[in-house]
Amino acid sequence: KVPELPMSYGELERRAEQVMPPELWSYVAGGAGDERTQNANVTAFERWGLMPRMLAGAAERDLSTELFGRRLPTPLMLAPVGVIGLCDLAEGRGDLVTARAAAATGVPMIASTLSQDPMEDVARELGDTPGWFQLYPPNDPELTESLVRRAEAAGYSAIVVTLDTLTLGWRPRDLSLASFPQLKGQCLANYFSDPVFRSRLAVPPEEDPEAATGHWAMIFGNQRLTWDDLAWLRSLTSLPVLLKGICSPEDARRAVDGGVDGLYCSNHGGRQANGGLPALDCLPEVVDAAGEVPVVFDSGVRGAPDVVKALALGARAVAVGRPYSYGLAVGGQAGVEHVLRCLLAELDLTLAIDGYASTASLTRGDLRPVR
Ligand code: FNR
Repeated sequence: KVPELPMSYGELERRAEQVMPPELWSYVAGGAGDERTQNANVTAFERWGLMPRMLAGAAERDLSTELFGRRLPTPLMLAPVGVIGLCDLAEGRGDLVTARAAAATGVPMIASTLSQDPMEDVARELGDTPGWFQLYPPNDPELTESLVRRAEAAGYSAIVVTLDTLTLGWRPRDLSLASFPQLKGQCLANYFSDPVFRSRLAVPPEEDPEAATGHWAMIFGNQRLTWDDLAWLRSLTSLPVLLKGICSPEDARRAVDGGVDGLYCSNHGGRQANGGLPALDCLPEVVDAAGEVPVVFDSGVRGAPDVVKALALGARAVAVGRPYSYGLAVGGQAGVEHVLRCLLAELDLTLAIDGYASTASLTRGDLRPVR
């Protein structure tokens, strides 16, 4: 434990709000519309409770999980956060700092396309700790291919294609403060360093960052992508491909039929569409439709009991977004490590006290609805 760092999520959030510049705070903490879906993501966990079991032989716990043939020490992951670079308030190198925290804890990192430092530099900091590359497929197929090639070459071991952000959501907090970091040219290093992106510009981004940012805004999203494009996306790499943003069982089935290796059930932490179902409520049906294909989950996880519940509902791994972003803002690398270590320690204790010897053995039958 780092003494000055908060021990509860509520306190972490309060401290983050105090230290973060208002525009960055609103960008990270805010969500779509009146944020009802974002809030519902969190409260959805309150409707489930874990059945405690006594004298169950859980003196030693196994927190490990398996994904794509690799055993991971814990089921926790760092969700891709596009402005994590800026959450390093000291230097704006948050992608690198987060990767160091991932390497120090062994918690895999999913590196966002929207990064302050090129993906190659982030991968180097990860060392042997697994890194996945999150792809926002741009409206430029050659650039899409180039980003995937680079991710392969840099050593990322899976590609997460995010489908819920083919356009940005309606976010009143950001609209009020005009806080869109990317439009200031921030977090675009993966684009500005890309040979295909650069070839589209009259002059290099270093010479005219505004024109480069303008071009980025034109190509960032592609609302015309359909299921017909899945075969092409799949063909871009031999790495495992996961689709992020899958909440419907029909979509899960289409994805599995289309040959994806993993599903990522998430509603982007309630940042994209308001009025939708809490992500947790979608998880069981996605898991059922996925069959043998593993499902990663995020959206609304704030503590270890939430991790337990998502695992029991069938997730193979569980990711957090805002919790570690706040950890970074409040305490730098030590802050991210602190958030992860607290989650893992509480997870281990929960299993010990409630009598479950492994995270992998949790099933839906271990949960009851809270009345
Ligand atoms: C995100 N998220 C996200 N997802 C993604 O696929 N690519 C990205 O670049 C980003 N960027 C991003 C920025 C910020 C500030 C936040 C808070 C989130 C979504 C993220 O991966 C994840 O789905 C949610 O953060 C999970 O919800 P919680 O844990 O924040 O409730």
